[in-house]
Amino acid sequence: MEWSEFFFPLHHNPKGNTNQITTMYPNEVPYGLITGASTGLGKAFAEECARNGKNLLLVALPGEGLPEVSAAIASRFGVKTAWMEIDLTEENAVHEVSAWAQENYRVDLLINNAGIGGTKAFDQASFTYLDKILKLNVRATGLLTYLMLPELKTHQEAHVLSVSSIIAFSAAAYKTFYPASKAFIHNFSRGLHEELKGTGVSVSVLMAGVMATNPSVVERMKHQGWMARFILLQPEEAARKTLHQMYRKKPVIVLGIGNKVSQLLARYLPDKYRMSLLSRIVLRELNKDQEVIGADSPKMVIPDPATRTRSF
Ligand SMILES: NC(=O)c1ccc[n+]([C@@H]2O[C@H](COP(=O)([O-])OP(=O)(O)OC[C@H]3O[C@@H](n4cnc5c(N)ncnc54)[C@H](OP(=O)(O)O)[C@@H]3O)[C@@H](O)[C@H]2O)c1
Repeated sequence: MEWSEFFFPLHHNPKGNTNQITTMYPNEVPYGLITGASTGLGKAFAEECARNGKNLLLVALPGEGLPEVSAAIASRFGVKTAWMEIDLTEENAVHEVSAWAQENYRVDLLINNAGIGGTKAFDQASFTYLDKILKLNVRATGLLTYLMLPELKTHQEAHVLSVSSIIAFSAAAYKTFYPASKAFIHNFSRGLHEELKGTGVSVSVLMAGVMATNPSVVERMKHQGWMARFILLQPEEAARKTLHQMYRKKPVIVLGIGNKVSQLLARYLPDKYRMSLLSRIVLRELNKDQEVIGADSPKMVIPDPATRTRSF
């Protein structure tokens, strides 16, 4: 047994693999719980929170390097981190995460970042794949917020941040479930923000645009000219700016002029122009590759949902 385990004993979780440490100290800095924290925007959120001294509970799929990310953040920023590897689309996973967090830590920040999406003809996508979009983007976001709210309310000030997308402002052919799921996150967050006014819990939603969260996006942007590069954000910059606005309790966060212009077009262009424009862009993308994934443009082959589902 290592000395740290004496003070922070390790527990084995029956389903979710975790390095749980028991640290219910009254004066301890409360934790931030972040889903999808092993890579991309979620990892950038984790690093930015840690840079500001926040202890962290990190959640992501098993076998994707979350323990290493967690350890690296703890040693680089001198904060406490704990992790749980679990598939949030599984039946009891969200309850497990919530129980693990609430039984062992004080949590005053929840970031619902994990999300998946894709581009595919509706009748060619398997329903298992479409259902995963619902289970992760809609169910896990709503349920985790629901389950964590009592704990969040015990703090003088607490925050919920959920990650939606600019594409939530418009339906699009060949995307169907993804923008619908992100519209849910947008409307859910706005409603809850209104409902919790006057409590200590503020609710924000990030309407994210294209971010360089994986190498395929970066590669693609190289060939797409200045406009794409103008809109594209690095996840680190997106995380920093988003957290700044979240702590200012901004209900809807849109980053950068490019995304603000896209948002205005998506919201105010007449339906028939907007839908056909967006759907043409998506169709072009679809025709280039037989199967591409990436809600707002980053491309990746859609994995077999039975084995692996990934955002973008
Ligand atoms: N990238 C963009 O351009 C863009 C644009 C608009 C909105 N967004 C939104 O931003 C958020 C983050 O996107 P990203 O590009 O950073 O994605 P990413 O690089 O694919 O990362 C997604 C994260 O979610 C985790 N995750 C995926 N499925 C999960 C599941 N079933 N259970 C638990 N964790 C799961 C992944 O874990 P593993 O690493 O273990 O797989 C990973 O940590 C998503 O909600 C996405 O919809 C992204």
